[in-house]
Amino acid sequence: MPQIKAPKGVADILPAQVRDWQRMERIIRRTLEAAGFAEIRLPIFEVTELFARSIGAETDIVSKEMYTFQDRGGRTFSLRPEGTAGAVRAYLEHRLYHGASDCRLYYLGPMFRAERPQAGRFRQFNQVGVEVFGLSEPGVDAEVIAVLMEMFTRLGLAGLRLDLNSLGCPECRPGYLRQLQCFLEAKRLLLCTDCQRRAEINPQRVFDCKQPGCQGILEDAPKSPDSLCAACRDHFRRVCDCLEQLGYAYQLNSRLVRGLDYYNRTAFEIVSLKLGAQNAIAGGGRYDGLVELLGGPSTPAFGYAIGLERLNMLLQLPSEPVQPWIYLVLLGDEAKRQGLLLLQELRKAGLSAQMGHQNKSLKKQLQHANKLEAPWVLILGEDELAAGNVILRDMRQGTQEELLQEQLIGKLKGIWTTKS
Ligand code: HAM
Repeated sequence: MPQIKAPKGVADILPAQVRDWQRMERIIRRTLEAAGFAEIRLPIFEVTELFARSIGAETDIVSKEMYTFQDRGGRTFSLRPEGTAGAVRAYLEHRLYHGASDCRLYYLGPMFRAERPQAGRFRQFNQVGVEVFGLSEPGVDAEVIAVLMEMFTRLGLAGLRLDLNSLGCPECRPGYLRQLQCFLEAKRLLLCTDCQRRAEINPQRVFDCKQPGCQGILEDAPKSPDSLCAACRDHFRRVCDCLEQLGYAYQLNSRLVRGLDYYNRTAFEIVSLKLGAQNAIAGGGRYDGLVELLGGPSTPAFGYAIGLERLNMLLQLPSEPVQPWIYLVLLGDEAKRQGLLLLQELRKAGLSAQMGHQNKSLKKQLQHANKLEAPWVLILGEDELAAGNVILRDMRQGTQEELLQEQLIGKLKGIWTTKS
């Protein structure tokens, strides 16, 4: 029978890697919860229209990359390509805007995009996303970015760059888009066919184009920060001031438009100087119009998401194998039966224990305990059973002693307490 493999662009996270992931997630959760974010668990699929309306039908994500299917009732759903749309849907559906003036949420889980897989780019990948609803002040943008930077510091990351841009608002953006459209119209024949279409329908999306020809032309394109209205200019200046005050360096990048349509004003990305082409480890910004666009009250919002696979590639945490503290070497059927009871007792006492189930020689079982790096081994064979004893072996010292079975748990708990 031919072997079945995982789909392209979909990776397993193996037991040897999961501990690193858990540690990374622990640090992230602690940092976010200390900053007032509460976890929300969102569904993995939603009605397709939610994504089309929020992210934008013309974006690559919606037009090319969604996994969309019909259920038996003929309704159209998509696997979530990102979490913001679902978070806004849940915020509205459960009226999370009632109560406190602002609502701070975070979520963690898999997202799905049918992109061309390459290093750091997957079709199923994990994100931690953060959303703040109800606050429009520039200080919020800076505070939320600062929480992210602090998290990266706690994770021991260096060599990061914060890219910043302002995309304007419904007041000033139309004027900018007209300027951009005029510029693109003049270069129309030099653009790829995708960009020719984008230029007419959603001109800012030309900045997503990866074609070197189009990228070269866009060098001279009008820049959105040059067309901001007074309110957006002031907001952007204050975000920059707050970041400077907090000691975070940033780089202005007028081509940073993000691949999703819902953003206004602040847009940002954190890029790693150590990764290759897929170097953005987090990205986000302000999206003050989205809650209203999805049928809710006018609500300012700001958020971002971190790509956990990319983050994990940058972390060089020493690996921490799952090792038992005590390993039971059991010789013969009766010892195995008794061993199972003993294993249960040890675990109930809060000790980390494993046992050998197979009928192997003493030497083989000790070798296995050694491989697992268990510091203590308990040996139980026919002689010990007859005498009501067990042998406790200190694997590091290479010494052993005989104990009465009833003394065992007390003795082990004593050693465990001194150790911790
Ligand atoms: P995004 O920039 O599309 O934003 O994704 C955020 C991060 O997810 C990226 O910076 C990257 O690290 C990771 N990522 C994206 N696509 C892939 C992929 N195919 N393989 C591996 N990692 C990937 C959003 O998703 C927005 N929802 C962020 C946001 C939240 N904005 C406001 N609130």
